[in-house]
Amino acid sequence: MTGIDIRHYTSDQAAAVRPTMLEVYAEVYADAIAADPFKSVDRFAAGLDGWSSRTGWSCVVGYAGDQAVGYAYGAPLPENARWWGGLLTEVPEDVVRETGTRTYALSELTVRIPWRKTGAARRLHDELLAEQSEERATLLVQQAHPKVRALYESWGWKVLGDLRPHIEHAPLFHAMLLDLPQH
Ligand SMILES: CC(C)(COP(=O)(O)OP(=O)(O)OC[C@H]1O[C@@H](n2cnc3c(N)ncnc32)[C@H](O)[C@@H]1OP(=O)(O)O)[C@@H](O)C(=O)NCCC(=O)NCCS
Repeated sequence: MTGIDIRHYTSDQAAAVRPTMLEVYAEVYADAIAADPFKSVDRFAAGLDGWSSRTGWSCVVGYAGDQAVGYAYGAPLPENARWWGGLLTEVPEDVVRETGTRTYALSELTVRIPWRKTGAARRLHDELLAEQSEERATLLVQQAHPKVRALYESWGWKVLGDLRPHIEHAPLFHAMLLDLPQH
């Protein structure tokens, strides 16, 4: 357990929490932002705005006092979700059939460097997922980051297959799944 406070947000509070999230993103990804225009804060902000306007978007931010430690957010996949469009591994059709209430997509989990390896990331992850009613969760982890995949595997996630989103310059990801406890 870490001594951070976790605050929960939904779409109607997205505008209020947005500046904090952009600040954390800018700090954590400073090197990537300098090296790659596709990692700019503006692009992240546009992605965040897209996600936070989705039905069922939810977000957690961890705080140590008044300082933000990190965030996690996601939303349920809609029917016919584009999410699975870039799946390269053949799987039975039923595995990727979405109903709008079946799968929660964990879009981002980011923790500021001083709070790495403190349990803060796990708490954000667990608290975000604990409030979801879907039967399973999915996330994409870059295949270039095997340690992050191993971290998620140690938290119970399983690799479903290879996925490359239909976005220019998109890297290759592992698509992962996690069963969520039924409420
Ligand atoms: C992913 C994250 C939340 C995990 O936090 P944590 O549970 O405290 O775990 P760690 O930071 O120790 O990460 C586990 C390992 O993955 C590595 N790792 C983490 N993020 C990485 C990244 N973006 N690229 C490459 N390696 C990464 C760490 O260096 C660490 O390796 P080590 O054990 O050799 O030191 C945190 O590392 C983070 O915010 N990373 C940057 C954002 C990110 O990559 N998010 C995941 C998107 S799917």
